[in-house]
Amino acid sequence: MTGLFETQLLGGTVPLKNRIVMPPMTRTRTSEGDLPTDGDLPNELIATYYGQRANAGLIIAEATDVDQSSHGYARTPGIHSEAQMQGWRLVTDQVHRHGGTIFLQLWHVGRMAHSSILPNGRAPVGVTGQRAEGSSVFAHGPDGRLGYMPAETPRPLSTDEVSAMVGTFAKAAASARKVGFDGVELHAANGYLFEQFMNSVLNTRTDRYGGGSMEDRTRFLMEVVDAVVAEFGPGRVGVRLSPFGKYNSMPPEPLVEETFLYVAEQLGRRGVAYIHLLYELLPEGNMETAEFKPRYLDHALLAKARAVFPGAFIWCGGFNDRERAQAALDSGLVDLIAFGRSFIANPDLAARLKHGWPLAVADRSTYYTRCGEVGYTDFPAYRSVALRAAAG
Ligand code: PHB
Repeated sequence: MTGLFETQLLGGTVPLKNRIVMPPMTRTRTSEGDLPTDGDLPNELIATYYGQRANAGLIIAEATDVDQSSHGYARTPGIHSEAQMQGWRLVTDQVHRHGGTIFLQLWHVGRMAHSSILPNGRAPVGVTGQRAEGSSVFAHGPDGRLGYMPAETPRPLSTDEVSAMVGTFAKAAASARKVGFDGVELHAANGYLFEQFMNSVLNTRTDRYGGGSMEDRTRFLMEVVDAVVAEFGPGRVGVRLSPFGKYNSMPPEPLVEETFLYVAEQLGRRGVAYIHLLYELLPEGNMETAEFKPRYLDHALLAKARAVFPGAFIWCGGFNDRERAQAALDSGLVDLIAFGRSFIANPDLAARLKHGWPLAVADRSTYYTRCGEVGYTDFPAYRSVALRAAAG
């Protein structure tokens, strides 16, 4: 039985001090660069935030743009400019100084974007020209104010552009390595560009990245995985997937099981360290008996995926206590547990879970704002709260 506080050698090469993962969370605390091409920048504040949370076995830093066309949400960072790389160096230094391990999540949002935050007001790019009807992104409205705007109609990427995008991801991974990240995670979940390609309903392309066959519609992801593994070495690349997910107007995938198992098997062959899945816990917490619904983890399917993928599985799913996390590990289906929201207000989450100390709760209104340290780096560690209380 694996304990939550047991170590792990991720991908056979990255030592983790426990099984607790801080998953990627957009927090919109970037700074503006001097030049438009600088993009939004990581900074000292962001470095402090991640440094405070280095007690996680693995931190996966927030979704980060691989180039300017990937900017779907205002104030999210990138790793395509020199200034951004300098900002990320502050982050990795802080985390390493505190004994932590940090991967960077790389994404391209594809059609989940808006011309008001894209270079020269250009349209988003996508797998086809199909808009994500009914979904919104964080961008500027007609009055220039930031708010949730409908995702715009994308321009389909040409075959050459898709091939070039593989190189863009490779470059982003090389930059991440250069500034000290221990690895990268590819965001192939939640209706962003990789999933737009993988979905057999949405991907009606007829080129070699097209929806005709499983191999074709997963080709973009696999080419990027190969390129990124070549940059970082095997064991330092993870992939986030969300089979059954309908977020960002993804059409239900009729081939969902086949696709998931094919992708898992292919990722395993390519030396991917882990697959990161986002599923809710069953409401009653009973993982054995409850009826499967697409938003809950399908244990039978995961068992099949485990048989074809030799790496680790991370389960992210609203965990906020030690007992349910341990029960998930005890199921033998997953290796690492991600605690998202709990890490916001509990910088010392691992210690709190270990000692049974109470968890603080964050204020949602400070999740995504420019209020700087408020609701971001101003949560104390429990030890200092307890000491202050004892001192009266
Ligand atoms: C997501 O994974 O769904 C996601 C990531 C980053 C965002 C928004 C949504 O800024």
